[in-house]
Amino acid sequence: MERCPKRAGWRGEMQSISGRKREREAACQAAVKAKDFTAAAKAAADVADCAEILASRTTGVVAEAYAKEVESWRSFARKLEALKSGVAGHFAHNTPGGGLGTNRPTGDGDEWLVADKPDITFDDIAGMEEAKRIIDEMVLYPMKSPEKARALGLNPGGGVLLFGPPGTGKTMLGKAIADALDAPFYYASGADLRSKWYGESEQRLSRLMNAAKSQPVAVVFLDEVESLLPRRTEGSHAADNRVVTQFLSDIGGFKDSRNLLLVLGATNKPWDIDEAVFRTGRFDEKVYIAPPDFPARRKILELNLGNVSLEEDVDLDSLARNMEGASGSDVSAVVSAAKRSALARAIREDAVPVVTAEDFSEARRRIPLSITENILAPYMRFMEERF
Ligand SMILES: Nc1ncnc2c1ncn2[C@@H]1O[C@H](COP(=O)(O)OP(=O)(O)O)[C@@H](O)[C@H]1O
Ligand SMILES: [Mg+2]
Repeated sequence: MERCPKRAGWRGEMQSISGRKREREAACQAAVKAKDFTAAAKAAADVADCAEILASRTTGVVAEAYAKEVESWRSFARKLEALKSGVAGHFAHNTPGGGLGTNRPTGDGDEWLVADKPDITFDDIAGMEEAKRIIDEMVLYPMKSPEKARALGLNPGGGVLLFGPPGTGKTMLGKAIADALDAPFYYASGADLRSKWYGESEQRLSRLMNAAKSQPVAVVFLDEVESLLPRRTEGSHAADNRVVTQFLSDIGGFKDSRNLLLVLGATNKPWDIDEAVFRTGRFDEKVYIAPPDFPARRKILELNLGNVSLEEDVDLDSLARNMEGASGSDVSAVVSAAKRSALARAIREDAVPVVTAEDFSEARRRIPLSITENILAPYMRFMEERF
């Protein structure tokens, strides 16, 4: 250390900045708890400033991580500013750091409010051009420019159901929409809601919808909506039936209200959703999310490989072409498996990790492709019957 005073000085300074950052984070949390949003906004801005200094003095992934923190703390500070002036109504009382679905409970249905937007964007999603276009036209433009939409007699908000086979990027698309919209975003997964709150899920969902409706603008994303709003039959549980009935009444009339509410649903099993949900136009728009085609598979390979070194024998074109029948998540899984075998070899041989064609072949042998004719048929049938 003595031979490197400059380095020691740098380290000391970094430590004191991180110390101050931690201190301001704690101050922000305390102020939010005390509902002193002026102090909280100031503290959040200070945290962002500290992170910015740290970002400027580091490189690579560390700098990137700090830069991300700068963004999320700045955006949090802006939200707190809005709260201060009463613009946004009540907002999530969560300091940045959580992700989709990881926010702490705050009560009043706000336990599903995602304060920190997930950092998935449309650029991370391969293919789905049609779906993206519909989302732009139906959702993003009207939500971003509600006045212009209303001038054209278009009602922003409404309901959109994303459906398609598992692993095709529906949840991802929901996250990207959250990221693209500067609106409070509520996320609830049907499976979670049911397993955690069985027997209580109707009150939970109702509180969620009411919390969303109390905002001037809000997006509700109901993932795995079929397990939340299952078909009501004579044999089905009374509790399930109550959830559906309650949801229909909560969601009813939201189109006519002054506040702007967008309800997105995602499902692998649209045929399991209660008919009334469709009949009453709660999901006006239904968007089929197809498995990735060749260009999309190629793009998913690239997205998942990033800057990883590839041996010259790796031919991404033919790899993508030969993965007909892969879902997006199958393609990601193949890349992960190939990377893992490259890592094992690099460790064994004490060499720089490089992914080879053989790594991919082995991964392909191990990972079955999930989209078969049998999987697709019911979606085709559903589209014919319901569109
Ligand atoms: N179109 C896509 N572009 C990029 N990655 C994708 C795509 N579709 C799926 N994936 C990958 O598969 C994973 C699972 O996707 P997910 O959104 O959970 O699917 P779904 O909700 O439709 O079952 C994603 O996290 C991503 O890694
Ligand atoms: Mg999903």
